[in-house]
This record gives sequence, structure tokens and C-alpha cells, in this order.
Amino acid sequence: MTTSTPSDTWQALLDHRRALAGRSLTSLFDADDARGSRLSLVWDDWLADWSKQRLTSDTMTALVAHAREHNLEAWVAALFAGEKINLSELRPALHTALRQPGDAPLLVDGSDIIPAIRATQARMRALEIQLRGGLRLGASGRPIRSVVHLGIGGSDLGPALVCEALAGARASPRDGIEVAFVSNVDPEHLTRALTGLDPATTLFIVTSKTFTTIETLRNAHSAREWLAASLGGAALSQHFIAVTANVDAARAFGIAGADVLPMWDWVGGRYSLWSAVGLAIVIGCGWDAFAALLAGAASMDAHFRGTPLERNLPVLLALVDYWNAQVLGHPQRVVAPYAHALGRFPAYLQQLALESNGKSVQRDGDALGHASAPAVWGGTGTDSQHAFFQWLHQGTHLVPVEFIVPVRAAHPLGDQQSLLVANALAQAQALMVGKSLAVVRAELAAKGLPPEGIDAQAAHRVCPGDRPSTTLLLPELNARRLGQLLSLYEHRTFVEGVLCGINSFDQWGVELGKALAAPLARALADGVGPDGADGSTVNLVAHARSTMRMRGRG
Ligand code: F6P
Repeated sequence: MTTSTPSDTWQALLDHRRALAGRSLTSLFDADDARGSRLSLVWDDWLADWSKQRLTSDTMTALVAHAREHNLEAWVAALFAGEKINLSELRPALHTALRQPGDAPLLVDGSDIIPAIRATQARMRALEIQLRGGLRLGASGRPIRSVVHLGIGGSDLGPALVCEALAGARASPRDGIEVAFVSNVDPEHLTRALTGLDPATTLFIVTSKTFTTIETLRNAHSAREWLAASLGGAALSQHFIAVTANVDAARAFGIAGADVLPMWDWVGGRYSLWSAVGLAIVIGCGWDAFAALLAGAASMDAHFRGTPLERNLPVLLALVDYWNAQVLGHPQRVVAPYAHALGRFPAYLQQLALESNGKSVQRDGDALGHASAPAVWGGTGTDSQHAFFQWLHQGTHLVPVEFIVPVRAAHPLGDQQSLLVANALAQAQALMVGKSLAVVRAELAAKGLPPEGIDAQAAHRVCPGDRPSTTLLLPELNARRLGQLLSLYEHRTFVEGVLCGINSFDQWGVELGKALAAPLARALADGVGPDGADGSTVNLVAHARSTMRMRGRG
């Protein structure tokens, strides 16, 4: 399958860009009464509306042609079939297998992986029953009541997001085991998580595909010391479970084989919450919620796999992303979930999108012919309206915004959910229509301001408008819908990678910083080196080391 940027469909997109230059979004609506419905899609009670983006139906047709010239359908089939599309690591990317309904065989290197998935799911379920039933005892014979998940990146962001998003669904905090997440090597993170916990009733899930990630391993060792200080060195293994592909390293740490759940090479870290990495979800939210999450993702998988590109939600939204980032050249993208429960979603999406497509070479090693993934950031609404929406409305940067809006409240409270949804829709509308100088002046005049007052005030109140956005309305936020949402973004990320010719499943860029940190940590500790480092780093290390040795003045 070709991965280089085809010239004719790419040229057609550039022609479209030229044709649309200078056209305002409102003029595009004026020119097409059906624009709102023509550039939106209803699927399983979702409504995705990208009609406020700077494009037309003809643009979408050109984008679909571009996707076809990139053999997108073949890449999608290869993804689900378990072909080794992660070319630099010669691995499949089979996160979809983790939520596949039914047990149809799926071969990796000649072996059917479904039985291992089912066996692991059974172990996850058994652990949840053990823990909720008070049958998992610690070294002192008391039942485990608190679980601390230790992991970082894909071994943290997904499960932490899901546990927070579904926390509201639990009958009460006492209903299950308390689950906390610790990721950072910053001692403050683990310290705060352990405050108030009883070592005798605390279990740690050490989640690391490699079991070499320094942050997770340091936290695991510190956790072990915390346990030993209270329980002595014996029987600490009862307080640890490992989720890893490196079983030997987990055993060397002291975790019994029976307490090691597998991670597989054919699942990338940032796509792994559906595996045993999601054990904390099962423990915190219950197996039924995890099963519903899997089923939701599977329903989006089936749509993605079986729907023509022209009606395919992940594909169409990915094409809009591609149009904005790679054709129009917008270097950033804001995501605004209008749901308190999705507070962790922007951070999760940052790793998913930027660790997948934040690259500068194609699969074949050639430089990209255009920009790769845009910066992705954001925050929940309506909070963001009191933070960075001023910048979005009146700043000099034009930034596509994505509104994710669960329409029905999980816990209705008067008219608050309606206010939340109204604010999301109003922000999208305001970004597009803005407020002209003439309208501002008329408003100020109607308030009785004298001409000199109007002259002084008006310019500051103008909103340029013409700022693009996409709005996703999902019926509500429950486990199934959350599974659909996360699968949607996984597949959008994959499609963007295919169109850019990128391998979305490796992450070599993270290795350099890790390697450079080791000698600097030694220099901070013992004052030797860092040999051969630049003058800035040498100065910074020297100052930090001397500061660390000072007594804090408070
Ligand atoms: O951020 C780099 C990375 O390798 C991610 O891809 C991964 O999810 C994370 O570190 C943690 O890796 P591990 O699960 O091996 O500890």
C-alpha cells in the first residue's frame, strides 16, 4: 500500500483551499440552506456536526478521494486483521481484538489470541469479586479496601479517565474499593495518594508494559518500602499485582506469578485500557461497567470497519482534522468536553493523538510532505469559558474547536444540564457569527453612550467570528457511550496517521529524554558531571544541586 502523498488528490485539496479563501462561514450557510444537515451525521443517536468548519460538501468529496488514494479501506482492513502495520516494531495494533464480541479466532504469528484475552478477562473479573467480597487479604490477614494503580502514559491515562468518568455511576463510594492513580515520579504524587491509607489494607497494581519505566518502578519500590515500614518484609507480595509484558521483571520485583496479568506486544500502550491495564476500572467501576465500555467500543469498531467512507463517522471527522491541520495549516486544535466527568479527556487525547502522530517522517522514512499532528489541548466547558475562551473569541489565532456534549445528565439538577448544553451550542455559534463593529456601535448607542464613549469602547467589544468548530452530541455519558467515544478518537487518530503516511503505533521520540535524564540524576545526586553537557545544563544542574542541599527557608 502506498504511503506517499498522492499529487492529484492533494492538488485538488489545495485548489479547494484557494476557492474557499476569503469566504466567511456565515456566507457558506447563506449559500446552502441544507448545509447544517449536509455536513453532519447521525449515528446511534449521536449527532456529529462539522458544518461550522471552513469546507463544503465538495471539499468532503475531495477529502474522501484523497483518503481512497491513500488506500484507507485497505489500511482499516489491515488494522482489524492484525497485520503488522506497526512497521518499525514489526507488530500488529490489535486493541480492537480486546473488545471483539464473540470468539472468532484472530491469529498473531499463527496463534489465536482470543483465548488469552478471555482468560485474562476472567482473571480480572475474579479479582474484582475477590476484592469486593473481602476475600483478598493482606499480610496481616485483613481484607484489602484500597487499591493504588501505579503507571504512567498509556498505563495510566486511559484507566484514570474511565474511572473518573464513571465514578458518578457508582451507588456510593462505600459501594466498592477506593481506587487511586499515581503516575508522576514527583514524590508528592505518591505521598498524597498514600496519605490516610492503611498499609495492611492497601493493594498496588504496578502497570507497566516494559516494567522498566523509571517513574513506575520508583513508585513501586517506594510503595514497597511504605508497606514494609508497617508490615515488615514478609508476605508483601499479597499487596502487589503486576500488569506487564515483562513477567520476569515483575517476578524479580517480588510479585508472584499468579498475580501477574499479561500485556501483549500487539497492543500499544496508549491503546491498552481495554486490556488488563483496565483492571483498576473493573475494580473501581465493576465488571458490568467494563463490559459495557468494551461493547460500546466494539459498536464503534463495527461502524468504522463496515461503513463506506462517505458515511463513516471516525473517517469523516478525521478528514475534517486533516483538512484543518494538514491542508489549512492550523497548528493546534482545542477540545472542549462539556462534561465535568470528562475532565481527564484532554490529557488522554494528548497522548493518543500526539504520541501517535507527532512525527516528522513517513512509514518509509521519508520526510512528511506537510505538517503532522497539530497541538491538542483543551478543558471542560463551561469552566473553559472562564479561562481560555476569551482567547478563542478575540485572540489573533484562529483555532478549530471541538465540542463534545453529552446531552442527558447522569444526575439531573433543575435546569443545569440544559444550561450546560445551551452554553456549548452558544459558544460554537458565537465563534462563528462573532459581533461586528457596526453591531457593537449600535448596541452602545442604544445604551445611551455618547459618540466619544462609543469610539473609545467599540473596538474592544468586537468579536471577529468566522472561527470554526465541530460539535459532537452524544445521548449521555455512560460506560457504553464512553467506549464509543474513546474508540471514535482511536480510529480518528489512526486515519490521520494513514493520510499522513505515519506509523501511529511507535514512539521513538520519548527515548532520548529518558536516556539524558540518567546522567543528570547522577550528577544531581553525587555532583559528578554531567560530562560533555552544554553550558546551560551544567549551570542548571549545579544550581539545582546546591539548592537541594540547602535547608529550605520556607
Ligand atoms: O510515553 C512513552 C511510553 O512508552 C508510552 O508509550 C507508554 O504508554 C508509557 O511510556 C508507559 O510505558 P510502560 O507501560 O512500559 O511503563
